Amino acid sequence: MDKIWIKGGKKLNGTVKVSGSKNAALPILFSSLLTDKKSTFSNVPDLQDIRFTMKILETLDVHTESYENNKLILKGATNGSKEATYDLVRKMRASVLALGPLVARYGYGKVSLPGGCAIGARPINFHLMGLQKLGAEIDLQDGYVIASCKKLKGTRIVFDFPSVGATENLMMAAVLAQGETVLENVAREPEIVDLAKSLRSMGAKIEGEGHETILIQGVNSLCGASHSVMGDRIEAGTYLIAGLITGGKVTTEGLEREQLDAVLEKLKEMGAQVESSEDRLTVSAKLPLRSIDFQTQPFPGFPTDMQAQLMALLCTTEGSSTVTETIFENRFMHVPELQRMGADISTRGNIAVVKGVDMLKGAQVMATDLRASACLILAALRAEGETTVHRVYHLDRGYEKLEEKFKKIGADIYRIE
Ligand code: EPZ
Repeated sequence: MDKIWIKGGKKLNGTVKVSGSKNAALPILFSSLLTDKKSTFSNVPDLQDIRFTMKILETLDVHTESYENNKLILKGATNGSKEATYDLVRKMRASVLALGPLVARYGYGKVSLPGGCAIGARPINFHLMGLQKLGAEIDLQDGYVIASCKKLKGTRIVFDFPSVGATENLMMAAVLAQGETVLENVAREPEIVDLAKSLRSMGAKIEGEGHETILIQGVNSLCGASHSVMGDRIEAGTYLIAGLITGGKVTTEGLEREQLDAVLEKLKEMGAQVESSEDRLTVSAKLPLRSIDFQTQPFPGFPTDMQAQLMALLCTTEGSSTVTETIFENRFMHVPELQRMGADISTRGNIAVVKGVDMLKGAQVMATDLRASACLILAALRAEGETTVHRVYHLDRGYEKLEEKFKKIGADIYRIE
């Protein structure tokens, strides 16, 4: 398995062009199941999860016509398989996003129940409750979930929790349902807004995305999509913190400031300077940073996908910081690895108390999930000496050309095949 070697201590300076957002691209690719026409997507990041989604779509009769320079052309399914099998789904739980489009398009969809993962049980009850409300019959058989319904009927659905995946699945189901669907207490993440834009390019009638309530008028059929995927705000946040943790100054290009507002506000609270113009963001700090408290929340609150990265920065920030993770039940897997590098962190349930130390020490560390891996890279960039991060396949799921981008801003980093 690949490893990444880093020698810490170099200040990072320069500009990083962020790739397309993984978490916007995944639902958008699954939405190609809603039509038999050709869809064209640009700014699609070349990541393992994206390649894997293309593989799953092939088994569902959606063919990749071409994929180069981040431009992907998919030929929609005519009447292919309606089943996403266990051996595929278990490797990527976002495959559950095939269920809404399949049952909307064919009146039938069968998807293996996604297992849990390192950060939590990841149930899909909100997805299934919503599909039932639209008239689908839900059966659980041999670890698969089957949704069937002659024709989905629009209705009003109030979410118990603004789940990102459930919002996306229900949006993709409702666009071909009969009549009007009102989705309330939905997720407001920028990735939801991007999915709505892509669906609208197919002829879907959607309004309200990015707010608590989304209104959808069902249509009989959809044409192919033509959409450019938004920039990856979590990738951007990771690189901006890389600049701060090494005492440098990094600029990211390719996303709007409000998509990362909650993160930028916390960095400013720590004493960092934030400059923004058009799609460029620059973060730096003249004075030593101050410790802060933060908790993760659904958008527009602080994103859980940035929790580990900000914790890495707090490890060498003077004072004591409290980190509260409210979205996932087990998202402190990076803590034991940071402790092995000399961090002073104590956790109790979903609360971690981080006491700043003068120096982290390079070590052999293990990646456990995508964002925990990014956090270890950030700590290694700051640490004294050499660090080897094992199991970097986690990283390859969400960070395109990671070493290349870090090398470009001055990091001493390379991949050991
Ligand atoms: C999406 O996961 C992202 N993944 C996650 O990013 C991100 O952390 C998460 O949203 C929150 O922003 C993709 O977009 C592919 P949720 P998702 O449904 O849709 C519980 C990364 O690192 N829940 O908003 O699974 C769930 O267990 C990944 O890029 C239910 O209980 O997130 C969790 O505790 C990690 N029942 C909370 O809600 C359900 O039916 C939030 O989950 C659905 C969710």
